[in-house]
Amino acid sequence: MPVTRIATLLKDGQPDTSVVAKGWVRTRRDSKNHFSFIELNDGSCLRNLQVVLPGSLPGYAAMLRDVQTGASVSVEGILQESPGRGQRIELHASSLTVLGTADPATFPLQKKGHSLEFLREIAHLRPRTNTFGAVARVRNCISRSIHNFFQSRGFLYINTPIITTSDCEGAGEMFQVTTLDLARLALMQTQIDWKRDFFGKPASLTVSGQLEAETFATSVGDCYTFGPTFRAENSNTTRHLAEFWMIEPEMPFYELNDNMDLAETFIRTLVSDVVTQCDEDMQFFSERISPGVLQTLENIRSHEFVRLSYTEAIGLLQQSGRQFDYPVEWGRDLQSEHERFLTEEHFRQPVILFDYPRAIKPFYMRCNDDGRTVRAMDVLVPGVGEIIGGSQREERLDVLLSRIVECGMNPDDYWWYADLRKYGTVPHSGFGLGLERAVLLITGMTNIRDVIPFPRTPGHASF
Ligand code: 4AD
Ligand code: MG
Repeated sequence: MPVTRIATLLKDGQPDTSVVAKGWVRTRRDSKNHFSFIELNDGSCLRNLQVVLPGSLPGYAAMLRDVQTGASVSVEGILQESPGRGQRIELHASSLTVLGTADPATFPLQKKGHSLEFLREIAHLRPRTNTFGAVARVRNCISRSIHNFFQSRGFLYINTPIITTSDCEGAGEMFQVTTLDLARLALMQTQIDWKRDFFGKPASLTVSGQLEAETFATSVGDCYTFGPTFRAENSNTTRHLAEFWMIEPEMPFYELNDNMDLAETFIRTLVSDVVTQCDEDMQFFSERISPGVLQTLENIRSHEFVRLSYTEAIGLLQQSGRQFDYPVEWGRDLQSEHERFLTEEHFRQPVILFDYPRAIKPFYMRCNDDGRTVRAMDVLVPGVGEIIGGSQREERLDVLLSRIVECGMNPDDYWWYADLRKYGTVPHSGFGLGLERAVLLITGMTNIRDVIPFPRTPGHASF
């Protein structure tokens, strides 16, 4: 008989039908009246299937030795209406096979209620907990919703390279990729000859697929990337990863306002989709992890985002009467404490800041006529701070080239990017959403290490 997943059984399973369920034992309770209850979970949903194991089953006593928390089992039986509270149906076993045992003396999830910090040390087992199962399902829902959002609008999904020789953000935070024998070169103390490296020049892991996406936006039209992104920034915070996933739409003929409109609709749609499609998991987050999360999401769904220039934001922060750790001064980048003040305390809803000082933004952003600012935009949300960064792109060849030089970069390295301005240039815009930051916002989880399966942060890449 084929296996039915527990989510399907709990939703659609009919009494008096024969089924097979397979999964992992969460708990077992033995009744004095010679039968046992097993809470069985297969990860398809938060809830467990209650299995009733009658003492009359052949080998019952021996079975109890192995049916322990963490063991994997296959159960065949008949669904019945459950007299107990908390479930509509339960499975009355007619046979049970233990597929794999789990020694209660050593199984790390034997007891409930481990800290998130402890669970980070056992990243290979934490998906078997309620929290990490729910995070995995919500993350999946967000990914599906992202593809649906763009696919339904006719955007092409573009795969940009992971290995690259250009630094998109110009911040020098790249992981180098090399096949040179560094230990030997260090011993020889010779100058490195990059021509002898695999690509004949220094190469790195990408910090963004944007520059490559622009080549497709200016040929096939609206497009987006969705892939792994790497940053060697030494920030040990709850919002930064060395390896994260970014979604980067890029649109020809969009100016900054069109870009902001798309970003706002995008975030709203993701939130709506998860709230309607992951009802049970979201109830769990709201009850166990972050009591205000559903209210925050409802607020995002039902209100327009505030839009404010960087200059206005600086004024607001200066007049707030608030003592910040980092100074608030025109020309300085906003720190997370400033962003969170704006979105969590002042406006209490998402805020889009635009027109940032050109000196703190990358070379590709379109220069405003004031000579001081660029057409940048950042979307800030409660609990997280910056979730999206984007801009209108500089489409004027001469301005772009002088900005590359101004940023201390070599125009020769960006000849192909400049070509897009030389041949049929158009106004265009785009932005990047950090997937993990979206998962933080939507689940109310507070550490980014807990919303990606295997987090990579400074000093941590064990498995
Ligand atoms: O603001 P960023 O650096 O923008 C870009 O990379 C542009 N090329 C995007 C574009 O216009 N196509 O990064 C975009 C988003 C941030 O807002 C944040 O959500 C996420 O990527 N992000 C990180 N997420 C986790 N860990 C990190 N170290 C991150 N750095 C950026
Ligand atoms: Mg940014």
